[in-house]
Amino acid sequence: MWDHALLKQLHQGTVVLSISGFLWRGGLMLVDSPLLYRRWMRTWPHLIDTLLLTSGVWMAANLHLNPLTTPWLAAKLLALLAYIALGFIALRLGRSRAQRMAALAAAVACFGYIALVAVRRSVVPL
Ligand code: HEM
Repeated sequence: MWDHALLKQLHQGTVVLSISGFLWRGGLMLVDSPLLYRRWMRTWPHLIDTLLLTSGVWMAANLHLNPLTTPWLAAKLLALLAYIALGFIALRLGRSRAQRMAALAAAVACFGYIALVAVRRSVVPL
């Protein structure tokens, strides 16, 4: 049986790994490195993000938190969708360097918002 404190540590650990990996891939995109397109480079972020999301959903279930009645959790999930879409534009779909860089900056801002919302448990975490 997974204890909640352990799940939270796993969640926080994967938060750090996820944003570090994203920034690294963002850096590779900016210097046009072919490393970004290696197969293993596409696989490991999925593994980390799966652990991040699974631990989050698991904790929400443990705490009986429903996003439909918990605004901060709903805000987190909506911002997560925006982060995924922006990340996709930054690393794959962006047509110009400027577009990719803008998407990268917006994705990092989204990630920061998600983390702040989680810590403050508020939709407006400032
Ligand atoms: C990019 C995605 C995510 C980031 C950056 C993130 C970040 C964080 C952080 C930093 C904490 C710790 C807050 C604290 O210190 O108290 C946390 C807690 C939490 N996260 Fe996430 N999270 C993400 C995704 C998710 C998802 C998808 C869910 C669930 C659907 C989720 C559910 C939770 C819950 C329920 C807690 C509170 C646990 C507790 O207080 O015991 N998270 N998150």
